[in-house]
Amino acid sequence: MLLFFLTTFLQASQNSALLFHGNCTTCHFETKSVSAPAMMEVRTRYLNAFPDKKDFVREMTEWVHKPNEERSIMQDAIDKYELMPNLAFEKDVLQDIAAYIYETDFTKQHSPH
Ligand code: HEC
Repeated sequence: MLLFFLTTFLQASQNSALLFHGNCTTCHFETKSVSAPAMMEVRTRYLNAFPDKKDFVREMTEWVHKPNEERSIMQDAIDKYELMPNLAFEKDVLQDIAAYIYETDFTKQHSPH
């Protein structure tokens, strides 16, 4: 029973890492801003605005679900790169990804799995 919970937990956290790497890092490199702000930078901005994990995950999920200029907390990034396209993700997928971003210090070496 314990093993079952443990495996499920590990799979869940691996999935969100894979979802992030499969869907976001094409534009958002982890530490370098090229065609979009580095995820490290986006994370820092969100952490400053929403230090609480629940708020962070809710706000990032809402925004990525429907990117729009009025609710952006990175106006300067929109001026520089243009508004992020709508990627039509399911909200529960985005919640997993946002939680993963909250938990991940992109300045540290970590395995993509
Ligand atoms: C096609 C390229 C592209 C992909 C793929 C992409 N982004 Fe973005 N994203 C951008 C650009 C460009 C910006 C900067 C302009 C802006 O804020 O709209 C941005 C900005 C953001 C912001 C800042 C929001 C704000 O307040 O302005 C968040 C959060 C974000 N992206 C999360 C994600 C997540 C999570 C994923 C993966 C599910 C993702 N992005 C995938 C291009 C992309």
